[in-house]
Amino acid sequence: IAKTYFSEELLAWYRRGNRDLPWRKNRDPYRIWVSEIMLQQTRVDTVIPYFERFMASFPTVQALAEAPEEEVLKCWEGLGYYSRARNLQAGAKMVMELYNGIIPDNKDAVAGLKGVGPYTAGAIMSIAFNRPEPAVDGNVMRVLSRYFCLEDDIAKPKTRIGIEKLAASLIPEGAAGDFNQALMELGALVCTPKSPSCLPCPVMEHCEARLAGRESELPIKTKA
Ligand code: ADE
Repeated sequence: IAKTYFSEELLAWYRRGNRDLPWRKNRDPYRIWVSEIMLQQTRVDTVIPYFERFMASFPTVQALAEAPEEEVLKCWEGLGYYSRARNLQAGAKMVMELYNGIIPDNKDAVAGLKGVGPYTAGAIMSIAFNRPEPAVDGNVMRVLSRYFCLEDDIAKPKTRIGIEKLAASLIPEGAAGDFNQALMELGALVCTPKSPSCLPCPVMEHCEARLAGRESELPIKTKA
């Protein structure tokens, strides 16, 4: 019951009013891919102008695959973690060579692209293709650790795997993309790392951490 409540209330909250972000304009898998790579280590506000410039310079997988590497890196300048840009271009070349330039609607194929880890594969499959795959990053681990009052160390791979199973079990029928983005949205805007704002939280009523007064103690994370 607490799970159904969580899924339904969170999805309804997201659909009532989410942020109008440029990568939400359509479901082009390439746009989703680029945005998720940029968002991995960089905040939304910083990413927006870079994303717009990147998509203007390299509007398609083919454009990115065929661009000189230095132009790709120039476009990434200031975002940091430049291996992300190199991997993205290597991934684009793989899509050209293996899949005729079309990002496949197949999780294993997507997860096999250079630079695409389990989080990004789940984000692309759910947001672009609406497949019921979890997309668990630090934000999502925090939200679920709190709501279910999970005390496992989120630095441990075993914990992440457990949370991925839990996240998958929460996805409402036919709404994987919106639901996963709702989780990210809640983590970014409401269930923040420090002093979460529980009053506007759509699922506060059944949040186990909140009920125990422990929302600031969770999640538990050992190594830095
Ligand atoms: N962080 C990671 N992915 C995101 C997305 N699709 N929207 C907003 N924030 C995000």
